Amino acid sequence: MEKSRHKQQLAVILLLGLWFPCCLTQTTPPTRANLAPTPSGTPKAQTAQLKVRLAGYPRKHNEGRIELFYKGEWGTICDDDFSISNANVLCRQLGFVSATGWTHSSKYGNGQGKIWLDNVICNGGEKSIEFCKSRGWGNSDCTHDEDAGVVCKDERIPGFVDSNIIDVSSEKLKQMEEVRLRPVVATAKKLPITEGVVEVKHKDGWAQICDLGWTIKNTRVVCGMLGFPHEKKVNKNFYKLYLERQKNSYLIQSVACTGTEVHLAACQLEFNKPNATSSCAGGMPAVVSCMPGPLFVQNRSLKKKVKTSSNVRLKGGARLGEGRVEVLKGSEWGTVCDDRWNLQSASVVCRELGFGSAKEALTGARMGQGIGPIYMNEVKCFGNEKSIWNCPFKNITSEDCQHMEDAAVRCNIPYMGLENSIRITGGRTRYEGRVEVLSSDSNGTESWGLICGETWTTKEAMVACRQLGLGYANQGLQETWYWDSSNVTGMVMSGVKCIGNEMALSQCQHHKTVSCQKAAAKFAAGVICSETASDLVLNASLVQQTVYVEDRPLHMLYCAAEEDCLSKSAAKANWPYGHRRLLRFSSQIHNIGRADFKPKAGRHSWVWHACHGHYHSMDIFTHYDLLNANGSKVAEGHKASFCLEDTDCHEGVSKRYECANFGDQGITVGCWDLYRHDIDCQWLDITDVKPGNYIMQVVINPNYEVAESDFTNNAMKCNCKYDGHRIWLHNCHLGDAFSEEAERRFEKYPGQINNRIS
Ligand SMILES: *[C@@H]1O[C@H](CO)[C@@H](O)[C@H](O)[C@H]1NC(C)=O
Ligand SMILES: *[C@@H]1O[C@H](CO)[C@@H](O)[C@H](O)[C@H]1NC(C)=O
Ligand SMILES: *[C@@H]1O[C@H](CO)[C@@H](O)[C@H](O)[C@H]1NC(C)=O
Ligand SMILES: *[C@@H]1O[C@H](CO)[C@@H](O)[C@H](O)[C@H]1NC(C)=O
Ligand SMILES: *[C@@H]1O[C@H](CO)[C@@H](O)[C@H](O)[C@H]1NC(C)=O
Ligand SMILES: *[C@@H]1O[C@H](CO)[C@@H](O)[C@H](O)[C@H]1NC(C)=O
Ligand SMILES: *[C@@H]1O[C@H](CO)[C@@H](O)[C@H](O)[C@H]1NC(C)=O
Repeated sequence: MEKSRHKQQLAVILLLGLWFPCCLTQTTPPTRANLAPTPSGTPKAQTAQLKVRLAGYPRKHNEGRIELFYKGEWGTICDDDFSISNANVLCRQLGFVSATGWTHSSKYGNGQGKIWLDNVICNGGEKSIEFCKSRGWGNSDCTHDEDAGVVCKDERIPGFVDSNIIDVSSEKLKQMEEVRLRPVVATAKKLPITEGVVEVKHKDGWAQICDLGWTIKNTRVVCGMLGFPHEKKVNKNFYKLYLERQKNSYLIQSVACTGTEVHLAACQLEFNKPNATSSCAGGMPAVVSCMPGPLFVQNRSLKKKVKTSSNVRLKGGARLGEGRVEVLKGSEWGTVCDDRWNLQSASVVCRELGFGSAKEALTGARMGQGIGPIYMNEVKCFGNEKSIWNCPFKNITSEDCQHMEDAAVRCNIPYMGLENSIRITGGRTRYEGRVEVLSSDSNGTESWGLICGETWTTKEAMVACRQLGLGYANQGLQETWYWDSSNVTGMVMSGVKCIGNEMALSQCQHHKTVSCQKAAAKFAAGVICSETASDLVLNASLVQQTVYVEDRPLHMLYCAAEEDCLSKSAAKANWPYGHRRLLRFSSQIHNIGRADFKPKAGRHSWVWHACHGHYHSMDIFTHYDLLNANGSKVAEGHKASFCLEDTDCHEGVSKRYECANFGDQGITVGCWDLYRHDIDCQWLDITDVKPGNYIMQVVINPNYEVAESDFTNNAMKCNCKYDGHRIWLHNCHLGDAFSEEAERRFEKYPGQINNRIS
């Protein structure tokens, strides 16, 4: 599949390279990877510095000259002794499943600088090129005419995180410093700043842009960069008097954007000679005004006016304004394939969701893989469309594209300063600690203080980590006594309850005045944050295909009874005579997130189940329920705890968890755990259920015990028809797969048709 980059994007890269060397992540080659974790014994600093990228021309995104970043310098590898094994190691380091070939004699052009490695010999299984044999760093008798290259199989390792993602988060603030709006009216200082003088940072400070020939299209580009979807006309006369009295320094004499650029630097620009302070004769500094998206508007009446799209959404992103692109077609959500996916198309998505233009257009399922249908391919927006649905695209069949090619975006969002009123202290790393928030007392004096741990769960911790800019919460801690408590502050917040989608803790429900039973610092709320999280989903179509009813003799159910897998009435049965009626089906639980799913409890607290001969690592891993029209359970909710393991994995992913012999339990990214329909307890006991129409529901990780990037897809629901002998499931789907309207229709099913059956 053709995935060459676009000329427009290249233009951005060139321009940015010239004037804003650090603004856009597109300035760095898109395929670059950190090396694998340092094994003990290897010097740390060195490994952290080592990066790999593909370079050269002409090439595709999955092939190119190999370049290594070592000791602060990019260099190449000589082709002497090069082999497919070397290429395999390098391709995997770059996030591809394997290599299909390698090239010699600088097929992609000559590199520059050091030739870092020569006579490299890998076995093929090494985690990083540095663990292969070679002559040693910088020791080579080659010239750049012998630079080696690789061709990687065009399939990404599911869940692969490359350094691009990490780099960007730290670039966020930097980028805000590049172009800014300086408000001139004091009242306009409220965040986000939506109106003001456009200022550009250069090496000697901030400068203005001459507004001669300025158009609303230029304004659109500036607003987009700063995280705003729309632009407004500005009252120039209001600013004129004030700005005329100021000493202005015009770095840029004129700007001509088409309006679809994602950065000012991509527009046609005319720069001034250095120190030309008064060259904007007859003009004044450019002033713009932007319209924020609804998430960033405090004013309620205004909030209602700014609408966002309801048939596009982002999934699986750790931060606001980023994620896998999903589109609604008919009544079901699906994904977009990444062929020709670029910043223009990504920007259309960002803007229709109420963010600015796109900072990055990500390919290869870098925000995790979807699991539903794939709807669009070769999306080619111009950049001014109101919705991605208005852009040219191709329909798709499952042969064309797979979920490992899901497109994703990272959007520009306005600076809200939310991270300034939260901090963590006492932890062992910068990703963990007791949460402190900035609060002001009745006199308006601001001070830092702790949060009562009593109501603190993963949900609240998720909001805290998001506000901190540290991604997801791995855990929300109610006790933090084991952390350094030398400088603890008092408690200033209690009773925190979040829905989960808030941008800051202050937006969550909490007590008006602090009320905490255990107010000591050791019971203060804490977090462990993480850039990545797992995401478990059930294969809905497999449930639908495998369902059946079995009348199982009681004498075969002693073990199940001991593990509480039967409804209460089983206790009154005449054991061992008679049977139970069971609704049976297979469960295939996929980890489509970006981190392995591991039980919260350590192995010391796992429970041995002698009957089945294995350890249970989570008390409640899933709920199985049958619901009637008003949502009450008709078959007793059965709480299943499993023995978690990798039953099978996608290509390029190796199994890591195995339940047998007290092995490590968990589910690797890109793998799944299968519970076949004939396993003990893999059922709902429907002995006491009357014929009728119901909703069958399976919820994974129902108590949010383990952090996931997305909890909205943890429930799987089906319409269920039971005639007293047989059972049919239809419309099986994940909790977030349907449109709201379709979900409402689905929920009505038991009520509507019940009458017909009885
Ligand atoms: C121009 O700016 C540089 C610093 O960027 C300064 O050193 C120099 O004195 C300035 N020249 C004039 C004529 O103002
Ligand atoms: C909210 O916006 C409306 C419409 O723009 C405006 O009339 C009103 O004064 C604003 N309210 C506040 C509290 O800013
Ligand atoms: C895609 O298929 C739908 C029908 O499923 C059709 O209406 C639409 O025109 C097709 N779009 C393209 C771009 O081929
Ligand atoms: C507020 O200020 C008054 C007078 O300056 C002082 O007496 C009082 O203690 C202050 N209150 C707080 C909560 O700091
Ligand atoms: C506690 O505060 C003191 C003084 O501000 C500081 O020197 C010390 O490093 C702090 N300790 C910790 C663990 O933060
Ligand atoms: C889900 O199960 C169906 C039916 O067995 C299978 O065809 C499909 O590949 C499975 N989906 C995934 C994502 O593995
Ligand atoms: C729910 O429905 C059942 C019958 O399906 C009925 O007996 C029960 O009273 C209903 N509960 C509520 C709260 O409406």
